[in-house]
Amino acid sequence: MNICCIGAGYVGGPTMAVIAHKCPHVTMNVVDINQARIDQWNSDELPIFEPGLDDIVKANRGKNLFFSTDVDQHIKEADIIFICVNTPTKNYGVGAGSASDLTYIEACARRIAEVADGGKIVVEKSTLPVKTAESLKKIFDSQKTETPFQVLSNPEFLAEGTAVEDLLDPDRVLIGGEETEAGNAAVEKLASVYAEWVSRDKIITTNLWSSELSKLTANAFLAQRISSINSISAICEATGANVDQVAHAIGTDSRIGPKFLKSSVGFGGSCFQKDILNLVYLCDSFGLPEVAEYWRQVVKMNDFQKRRFARRMLKSMFNTVTRKKIAVFGFAFKKDTNDTRESAAIYVCRDLLEEKAYLNIYDPKVSTEQIFSDLGQAQKMEDGSDNPLITIANDPYTAAKDADAIIILTEWDEFKSLDYKSICESMRRPAFLFDGRNVVDLNEMKSLGFDAHGIGKTVWGS
Ligand code: NAD
Ligand code: UGA
Repeated sequence: MNICCIGAGYVGGPTMAVIAHKCPHVTMNVVDINQARIDQWNSDELPIFEPGLDDIVKANRGKNLFFSTDVDQHIKEADIIFICVNTPTKNYGVGAGSASDLTYIEACARRIAEVADGGKIVVEKSTLPVKTAESLKKIFDSQKTETPFQVLSNPEFLAEGTAVEDLLDPDRVLIGGEETEAGNAAVEKLASVYAEWVSRDKIITTNLWSSELSKLTANAFLAQRISSINSISAICEATGANVDQVAHAIGTDSRIGPKFLKSSVGFGGSCFQKDILNLVYLCDSFGLPEVAEYWRQVVKMNDFQKRRFARRMLKSMFNTVTRKKIAVFGFAFKKDTNDTRESAAIYVCRDLLEEKAYLNIYDPKVSTEQIFSDLGQAQKMEDGSDNPLITIANDPYTAAKDADAIIILTEWDEFKSLDYKSICESMRRPAFLFDGRNVVDLNEMKSLGFDAHGIGKTVWGS
């Protein structure tokens, strides 16, 4: 079997590497129009960091796993074509700020229609608005090929940082297809690929629209839990309740469950906000404004949480951070990834820069160029000197030296076990610590000399 995946990003790369790894009989070609990205996939330094990914890619690359920019050739050769390109929020025209930008999806469909002969199975792997399959089908059918194309929806549920683990042992694989004989056959063909390592009872098949909508719904529900606990964190700070204790107490109810109840400085990542806004847009366009407003609140609460964190810092630090040095621990949107898309750190740092604070940023995996670009700042000034507002540190100790405050914005494991005593001693007094991820023990931090604050913890309210 020959499979082509269009889009060698955070989903296309890891997902196809795992399929190639588990299905030696499959020839897997991952293609992209971005030459630099493909070059990185073919090099020792992969474009994305994911635990376990290096080993899998390097074990299969050149055997049955290939990365290439020859999109047309690999489309022609494939039996199954995954579309795995980006679907960002549209920032222009109708639906700007909420609808998905489907330009890249349509470009892929048109390319496939132009160069392929039909009879192929085209799989939506990207997260898409409900009914996108209908548009794809229209594009394919307009080509009048002898054998029609089959369109399937097979959304991806992996989370960054645990992508390989999630792909090797998924909670479920979802495949939606047309409820016709040919549709069922296509669903079965794709199911048989996953069945090489996923048990059949975990492979769920539905109609196309249920599958497309389930992906948006899953992300909306997950994000909703975070916004719910974050809303409670604000009440905790006002009342003296401790949000971790509340989360534990409610999470032991088997109907609620313990996962996704960790209060934080706000959820980030390329998808939660984008997918909820997509759902909001869909609801609005189907004449369901009340449903749209219900889901919009999840994003609004997240925006509130990010802003609230910076405001609380300001308040605690005598209402000014101007010319104060702030050590930022972590910039990625979560641990174990180098991805910064929609990271809460970007918003908090921007608010602090507006207050004219100096930032010393340390993240174990995010590049210096990425941080400056996310913050909309130049690394060098016009006269060639370094940007005075932002310094990138190679380790947390250097970042914190002579700083007024530390803010922990990503829950990297290494932040749990630093020598906070010597860090505190190297800082200006009072030495503030704001834990946006609740990774350190605040009482211990206080005993070491920090003026320590966490999200949803009593000390915030004091
Ligand atoms: P990404 O931006 O990392 O990768 C997309 C890739 O597609 C890019 O390398 C881009 O160059 C390429 N591309 C765009 N147009 C192309 C074209 N016409 N031909 C060939 N290549 C093209 O995006 P991602 O994070 O991998 O997300 C892809 C999709 O998967 C999105 O719809 C996203 O919502 C969904 N998704 C993402 C995650 C995640 O954790 N990142 C998880 C589940 C689902
Ligand atoms: C999320 C979903 O978990 C995946 O199932 C989905 O496939 C993916 O989106 C997608 O469609 O892109 P991801 O964004 O990679 O995955 O990572 P998550 O673990 O969900 O974390 C998202 C954000 O929420 C992070 O900023 C994280 O720190 C935050 N979070 C998560 C919390 O603040 N509290 C929690 O309890 C859990």
